[in-house]
Amino acid sequence: MKNLLATRANPDVTSALSGLFPVDDSPLAISLAAGSPNLDYFPVAAVRQAFLTAIDQQGAGLFQYQTAQGNLDLRQALTARIQKWGQVATTADNVVLTVGGQQGIELVAKALLNPGDEVAVEVPTYIGALAAFDLYQPTYHAVPLEPDGLDLNALEETLKRHPKIKLLYTVPDYHNPTGITMSVTKRQQLVDLANRYDFVILEDTPYRDLGYEAAPLPAIKSFDTQGRVVFLSSFSKILMPGLRTGWLVADGDLLAAIMKVRLASDLETTNITHAAIAAYMQANDLDAHIQTLKTHYRAQRDAMVTSLEQDFPDEVSFTKPAGGFFDWVTLPKGMNAATLLTDTMIPRAHVTYVPATNFYPNRDVTNAMRLSFSGLEPQVITTGMRRLADQLKLAIHRQAPVL
Ligand SMILES: Cc1ncc(COP(=O)(O)O)c(C=O)c1O
Repeated sequence: MKNLLATRANPDVTSALSGLFPVDDSPLAISLAAGSPNLDYFPVAAVRQAFLTAIDQQGAGLFQYQTAQGNLDLRQALTARIQKWGQVATTADNVVLTVGGQQGIELVAKALLNPGDEVAVEVPTYIGALAAFDLYQPTYHAVPLEPDGLDLNALEETLKRHPKIKLLYTVPDYHNPTGITMSVTKRQQLVDLANRYDFVILEDTPYRDLGYEAAPLPAIKSFDTQGRVVFLSSFSKILMPGLRTGWLVADGDLLAAIMKVRLASDLETTNITHAAIAAYMQANDLDAHIQTLKTHYRAQRDAMVTSLEQDFPDEVSFTKPAGGFFDWVTLPKGMNAATLLTDTMIPRAHVTYVPATNFYPNRDVTNAMRLSFSGLEPQVITTGMRRLADQLKLAIHRQAPVL
């Protein structure tokens, strides 16, 4: 049967997403791997009521085919949100509702990439974006991150050598996997580069509302004057991932191309869910809910960073995320976080994480790991981090030559 499959779907080549859930069956297991939101914070009763309200108000029509871009009330509410929090002046006609942010990434890839086309990604980068891009068989160019976001000098050098780069993918706010946020200056400079070197920017920002120190920065899209930035966000981290609702903002030809490929893959959006989210936003203060989330996630972040500062060996460096769900920990050169996970951390510490390799398109970096603080209470995070730290100290000691 395999000879009948498209190269892009060859099951022998594992999806980049397959590295996301390392398994530890022990009752002691603590997972710092998955970036799932904490389900204790899901507003189930309010969302249930919102579904009922939507059905009561709209009746059978709610279940009919409706509009290709998605529920107008929700698109209007999102237009107001991105204007307020991202300083993007747009209209509901420019908003497309998607099946999570993930579908938005895949649609942009499908709309832009022929096999072999050149794509720049910051490294490390979101695993799911690599999984989506991989299907279109691009040539990747990896651009390093700095503490204030993408290294724009390195990007420009890459663009000079590879002027055919079509697409740059970035997660500018509380980046997955490093927690880094791109400065406002760099956002503006990045758009200038895109204008000069003629490429599209995919700004993927599901964490932008979850800043623990400051309000969201202006979106990269707010600096776009040529319709070459696609803004993408999602309700997964601020409401519930099971709603499978993301949304993108695009203009002109890009919007038309995205709509063309969207129609071919799912014809219409899940109107019932989108009407329910619109009803939820009308009856509830989404920003107040986000404030509550931030209080919880900030405490979880603090537990992780405190342990990194107090318990981890000096040979290890780490980011201090100002928002989002993740911390990136760099081990001494020569260490391999993937073998450390299977040989030591799962059997001895019962702690899992996602090893660095998964986040690099060329899978060429081994000595780092992504730790997620989103799903666990602070005390559990502290326990897991101490176990990780103890085993790391032993592993680093084993690696160091005895003089
Ligand atoms: C950077 C980034 N983009 C997109 C997604 C996709 O999320 P969803 O499809 O649930 O909106 C995630 C999920 O973790 C993510 O971290």
